[in-house]
Amino acid sequence: MTMGTPNAGLEDVVVSTSEICFIDGEQGRLLYRGYDIHDLVAHASFEETVYLLWHGTLPSRKELDGFRRALATQRRLPPKVLSLLKSFPRKANPMDVMRTAVSFLGMLDPEIEDDSREANPRKATRIQARVPTLVAAWARIRKGKAPVPPDPRLGLAADFLRMLFGKKPSALAAKAMDTALMLHADHELNASTFAARVTVATLSDIYSGVVSGIGALKGPLHGGANVGVIRMLLEIGDVDRAEAWIKNALAQKKRIMGFGHRVYHTEDPRATHLRRLSEALGREVGDLRWYEMSRIVERVVNAEKGLHANVDFYSASTYYVMGIDPDLYTPIFVASRVSGWTAHILEQQSNNRLIRPRAEYTGARQATYIPIDKR
Ligand SMILES: CC(C)(COP(=O)(O)OP(=O)(O)OC[C@H]1O[C@@H](n2cnc3c(N)ncnc32)[C@H](O)[C@@H]1OP(=O)(O)O)[C@@H](O)C(=O)NCCC(=O)NCCS
Repeated sequence: MTMGTPNAGLEDVVVSTSEICFIDGEQGRLLYRGYDIHDLVAHASFEETVYLLWHGTLPSRKELDGFRRALATQRRLPPKVLSLLKSFPRKANPMDVMRTAVSFLGMLDPEIEDDSREANPRKATRIQARVPTLVAAWARIRKGKAPVPPDPRLGLAADFLRMLFGKKPSALAAKAMDTALMLHADHELNASTFAARVTVATLSDIYSGVVSGIGALKGPLHGGANVGVIRMLLEIGDVDRAEAWIKNALAQKKRIMGFGHRVYHTEDPRATHLRRLSEALGREVGDLRWYEMSRIVERVVNAEKGLHANVDFYSASTYYVMGIDPDLYTPIFVASRVSGWTAHILEQQSNNRLIRPRAEYTGARQATYIPIDKR
């Protein structure tokens, strides 16, 4: 067999079929199981979106109620996980905390070695229910505060904010978080989802797949970009400085976090909603600086580089005006994307083949071994 031409970054390489997510990078369209993200944002909730991603169809009211209940009743963290969180260094990167804590959740799951079609959706539900609680618990534990137990009467997004801040969020904040979670839920074969699929394609377990996804999401070229965006806005610090700051950064050939995308060559449809949320929440809390700075940065980067804002750009200012610590933005991405990872893991398991590409070897071929004392 002859080897193909190497393609750095696997750009535009199609490695499998999938029925979960469709992206049209030229038209800026995003569909989950055939449903336009704009329709889902207008009508659905995060829980309904997760059901759709996992099952392929929209739930009936009864099915959605049952699914909400299943997620809500499993939100509570096992005490051993809380003890583990308390033993972590308080300055630990929250993504490292997520990676380790999810791995530990796997060790405590009695079904970890059961890869049957029945057990895997149950495990996916437990993971999805507990990851948001992990983010909120760590946010408090690292500040020496007691974690707030979940309230199963609330939806996942509202309860996440309540566990984070210790008080019920405003209706707008809860709706904004619910929408943000829906927008981050899945995105076809992005790097972390691919990592998750590669892992389970060896017949490894679902937790290992999710942990692989977390590791891949951490990097600043992927989910870590939202932390990079808020750091940039904080460095700019003032609306009046934004234009000069970003022009200078571009002149220095800096990579601007929150812009550009491997697949979209036009507006990322997720950014359209997050831009609106950033403004609405800024207005609610009476602080539009971060939104206004973002608008200026977006205008200049678009005019000078032709690059569009991606999902990470306006999520940063949205979370910031909610009062969320910047380094939690990528873990919040985890709390949402875990739904997509698990949807893809279930799909991979339903029709598995080991994922094992080749590299074109460019190293030496006839090196002569020199005994160690003669080197
Ligand atoms: C997302 C990203 C990694 C996609 O990268 P990619 O498809 O591999 O594209 P490349 O890195 O090869 O970039 C192509 C060109 O656009 C430029 N470019 C891409 N994104 C850029 C950015 N955010 N800021 C400045 N220039 C950028 C590159 O410098 C390169 O220019 P060149 O051809 O003159 O060297 C890239 O756009 C990026 O690094 N963005 C910032 C990080 C980010 O927001 N990630 C979250 C994605 S949802």
